[in-house]
Amino acid sequence: MISQNIQEAFNKQINAELYSSYLYLSMAACFESLNLPGFANWMKVQAREENEHAMKLFEHIVQRGGEVELESIDKPKVKWESAVEAIEDALNHEKKVTGMINDLVDLAAKENDHAAGVLLQWFVSEQVEEEANADDLLQKLKMVGTSGAPLLMLDQQVGKRE
Ligand code: FEO
Repeated sequence: MISQNIQEAFNKQINAELYSSYLYLSMAACFESLNLPGFANWMKVQAREENEHAMKLFEHIVQRGGEVELESIDKPKVKWESAVEAIEDALNHEKKVTGMINDLVDLAAKENDHAAGVLLQWFVSEQVEEEANADDLLQKLKMVGTSGAPLLMLDQQVGKRE
């Protein structure tokens, strides 16, 4: 049986992951309007991954006899002036999520909840990857700048993400 504290914290994290999904979908829409379909694809894939993160927490609560309680999802930002600005926001957002996951790890340890701890270790590793992916994209974007051909080539490259 899952404790009340872990259940509440996991329900909050489900909301945070779904907000992440919403935020990345909003960035995808913005990239579509900036005529960067490859970046839009990258963000759609990211949005799907965030849904999967939410579902991992959802299933964990259910498997341990707890109750999932969904909250409303905040409206994300809808407009970014440039691709660099959007990816910077994505990286900063992931850093924030890493902090949330670390807090959950601390809570699981405090509650002596080993099952939650094992699940959260997956999230800890995932956050390393999430930050690295966003940072990698940001560095590449800064290298190519805002100009024609190099940016279009990078857009094609990131469009291959599945
Ligand atoms: Fe679910 Fe991007 O962290």
